This record gives sequence, structure tokens and C-alpha cells, in this order.
Amino acid sequence: MTATLLTGIAELVTNQPGLGDQSPLGLLSDAAVVVQDGRVAWVGPRTAEPDCDDRRDLGGRAVVPGFVDSHSHLVFAGDRSAEFAARMAGKAYDGGGISTTVRATRAAGDGELRRLLAIRIAELRAQGTTTVEVKSGYGLTVEHEARCLRLAREFTDETTFLGAHVLPADFARRREEYVELVAGPMLAACAPYARWVDVFCEPHSDHAFRADEARVVLEAGRASGLGLRVHGNQLGPGPGVQLAVELGAASVDHCTYLSEQDVDALSAARDTTVATLLPGVEFSTRSPYPDGRALLDAGVLVALATDCNPGTSYSTSMPFVLALAVREMHLTPAEALWAATGGGATALRSNDIGHLGVGAQADLTVLDAPSYLHLAYRPGVPIARALDL
Ligand code: NIG
Ligand code: FE
Repeated sequence: MTATLLTGIAELVTNQPGLGDQSPLGLLSDAAVVVQDGRVAWVGPRTAEPDCDDRRDLGGRAVVPGFVDSHSHLVFAGDRSAEFAARMAGKAYDGGGISTTVRATRAAGDGELRRLLAIRIAELRAQGTTTVEVKSGYGLTVEHEARCLRLAREFTDETTFLGAHVLPADFARRREEYVELVAGPMLAACAPYARWVDVFCEPHSDHAFRADEARVVLEAGRASGLGLRVHGNQLGPGPGVQLAVELGAASVDHCTYLSEQDVDALSAARDTTVATLLPGVEFSTRSPYPDGRALLDAGVLVALATDCNPGTSYSTSMPFVLALAVREMHLTPAEALWAATGGGATALRSNDIGHLGVGAQADLTVLDAPSYLHLAYRPGVPIARALDL
């Protein structure tokens, strides 16, 4: 396969300190990149660029690693715009609306769900995302959870079994039975299509799961070879973070309500468990934003993701998330960009995405701007797109 030289890069973010400057973003001005066989083959200053038959001039734009959206729920039908409107008028979110999406998703055919997935993934890519994790969780039967994951697998390897999303209405007085179903036959049917298992651990919602129930599902998932992820501390202080850290989960997501002990536990576990912040959720549920600044200052490894779903965050836009993290959670633009790239890759325990060092997957995102700073500086303006090579 031919090598392609990408030149005319006003600013390159490599996320490899030393490859560019010594900062975590490894910044290089006036740079060039050679891509071969889908990998980064060379990175350096334009003045040292090698000869390549195939050249593309990016016209003085900035290039960053493709965004890694490590948390989404893209397999669903229908929408919940009325629920959103009610929330904006003061109604609280408790997860109860998930059953509306479960009904719509079960009723949709494979072709329809595949079509919706393709549209959403194209939307993500058009805004600079090159890797996306996709959860099930709107099927909630053995058949429908397996179907949702099979369809998600057509689009990404980063698929997550979330049978323990909410308790289905027909199990309302049979919690234990549902947990057994999820950890038994449902997991068995889903594991072949999943890399991860996740649980909505939230004692503040009757719809979600307590720590003891979450543990059963997570331990069963681990025994089936899946990596662990947790929805935790979204609606109030709770056991999600401690459980995730104790079980060595790759990430605990939301982290909206954290105690000092939670922050300490996350900081001590920074080599294992990433705190994934989802500010699109606080935006769309009118919740307080978590103190991202305090987490970083405490040494916690932070990722940012969209959580794209029809209930709490119907956005596919990582630039939107990044702008919220800067404005509302007091991350610097550099920290937010790292969290949306290197942080997401760490949350997915993946070494060859989230940076543009030699050997990395050639996932490049081009900005119609001279610097990455414009991502947060120009909110709502579609400046980022994944580069098609
Ligand atoms: O990550 N918290 C649980 N699950 C989703 C919301 C799903 C929904 O409301 O449809 C979340 O916020
Ligand atoms: Fe989620």
C-alpha cells in the first residue's frame, strides 16, 4: 500500500510528549505526518518531511488524534424529546423513561436499527470521533440484548453488554430473578458479541441496581472474559465508584456525585480505573456538573465521552462535550482534549488509539482552525471532522 504524506499541518497534537513539545499533548507546529497501511509511519517537522508520491496539503489546519468516545448507547429506536422538555420544566430524571426506549427498540426491525446506527456513527465521524464504544441496554431480554450487541458489533469492536441497565417492568417484584437472568442466560447469549460488561449501579433509582446486584453481574461478566465498566454516582452519592475500583473496572462513568473517599479511591486506582465524565448528561438533565478540576488536581485519570442516548444526552458531538468540560468543569482546553482522546483510549485499555505516535492507528481529526484551542473556543461550530484517508 502506498504511503501518504499529510503536510500543511499548522499544529499537530500527538499526545506523545517528546515527539512534539514536552507537554502531555506533545505539540508540534508546522508539522507533517506519513500514513501507511492504516498506521502512522512518520511524524516530524514539515522541513524534514520525507518524499512520498501521494501528498495531501491540509492548508494550515490543526490535526488532533481522533476522539475516542468511550461511552455511548447508540442502539435504540424512537426519541424522548417530550421527556427532555418536561425536565427543562423542572421534572427530575430517574431512569424511568428508559422503558419507553426499550419498547421502541424491541419493536424496530434489524434493518431499522442498523440504519439508525449507521446514521449516528456517521454523525460522530463528521464531528471528529474515530472510535466509539456502544452499549446494549434497550433490549432487556436474552433475544433483544443479543440482537442489539450483534448489530453494534457490525460497527465497532468496543461493544458493551448492559443487560443490567434497568429492571424491566415485568420483573418489578422479581429483582433477584432478573439479576440471575442477566448474569446467566443473557450474559451467555451476549458475551460472544461483547468486549465489556456494564451495570447501572444506582440505589437512588428504583429502576437501577444496588451494589450487591451490580457485583453479581460484573463478576459473572468477568468470569466470561469481559472487561468491566460501571455507571456510577450519577443521581446521588452511592457505591458505584467504590465497587468499580474494588473490582478493577476499566472505568466508572458519570461520577456526578463523589465523596472525598471516592476521589481518594479513584486517585489511588489511576493506573486501573478511569473516571469518565459525561457533561452532556448534566447539560440535558439540569444536574450539577462534577468537579473535573478537583479530580485532575487529585491525580485521577479523567476521560470525556458523549454518553449519546435518547434519555440523558442525545448528542454525538465530542467537541460539544469538550467545550462543556472546559466551561463547566474547569478543565483547561489541553486537559479536555487529552481526556477526549488519550483518556478515552485508556478507558478502553487500548494502546494504539488516542495518540499519533509512530505505529498508532491512523485516526486523525482535522480542524478547520489553526489550533486545538478552537475546539472549546468556538462552541457549536462544526470545525472538527475525521480525516478519510
Ligand atoms: O448513561 N444512566 C443510565 N443510562 C443512561 C441513560 C439512558 C436513558 O435514559 O435512556 C445514561 O445516562
Ligand atoms: Fe450511559
